[in-house]
Amino acid sequence: MKWAVISTWKMSFAGNVKAAKMLAEGGNCGDAIIEGVSMVEDDPGYSSVGYSGLPDRDGRVTLDGGYMDGDTLKVGSVGCIEGFRSPVRIARSLADKEFNNFLVGAGAEEYAEANGFEKRNNLTEGSYQRYLQEKDKIKELNSYDGHDTVVFVGRDVSGTVCTAVSTSGLFMKEHGRVGDSPIPGCGFYADSLIGGAGATGVGEDANRGTVSYRAINKLKEGKTAMQAAQETIDEIMERIENCRHMSIIVLDKDGNYGVATNCAFPFVYASDECEPTLYLATRENGKTSIRQIRPEEWSKD
Ligand code: GLY
Repeated sequence: MKWAVISTWKMSFAGNVKAAKMLAEGGNCGDAIIEGVSMVEDDPGYSSVGYSGLPDRDGRVTLDGGYMDGDTLKVGSVGCIEGFRSPVRIARSLADKEFNNFLVGAGAEEYAEANGFEKRNNLTEGSYQRYLQEKDKIKELNSYDGHDTVVFVGRDVSGTVCTAVSTSGLFMKEHGRVGDSPIPGCGFYADSLIGGAGATGVGEDANRGTVSYRAINKLKEGKTAMQAAQETIDEIMERIENCRHMSIIVLDKDGNYGVATNCAFPFVYASDECEPTLYLATRENGKTSIRQIRPEEWSKD
């Protein structure tokens, strides 16, 4: 493949189309996937990322984002940042710094303001009403049904692999909680010599398994992208008692994808050989089954 891009959940479809167009025109992988993630961050229709994100237990929308350049292995992340438009863009800018690549809370906000990143109140009326209606009904934290973190993994025509991620994290999380998404090796990883990976689901479980790096290591050992994804999910489910929702996307350095899940997980894949296509991954008899679906078949995000 000359180029390829894979992204999590149906909500990433329009962003995947945009990223695919940029990659097809010879665009830089980092630029393309940041554009794809940002489109999800900006859409108030998607309630687990960016604008209209899921509030924490205090009714505040705090966001996590991460970015990794697979050529240099440079990483940037922000955690628990409030009041800014695009955590993934802030994360990418941190990847270029020699130190201070991972900023959280007030420190991340001070950096974003000082560096001119756009501010935005991400608590919309819709997300606040959802918070009021559901906050007393949540008995146990879980990833949101039907959607969660957005992750894009891309490979451009020059062979660069990058991964970018953005999320509001779990609904009703403790204020200050950071999940897996901005943590390199857990929520995301990229190495242009091997491939890239990213996770969506319950961050506490993804962190216990360092799932993205685990999948990359399997690629390095010679496994296919599909085997790397499947073995990662299998191992996590075996090692973590009552492992909750978890899905992983993998893209090898040649642009082949792999996906595995323990829930119902839509994803989008495009390459120079395949236009952006929506698939549904499910776990059947202990293995991931993947089929193409029409957008109407998945009523959630
Ligand atoms: N995967 C998102 C989170 O657990 O925060």
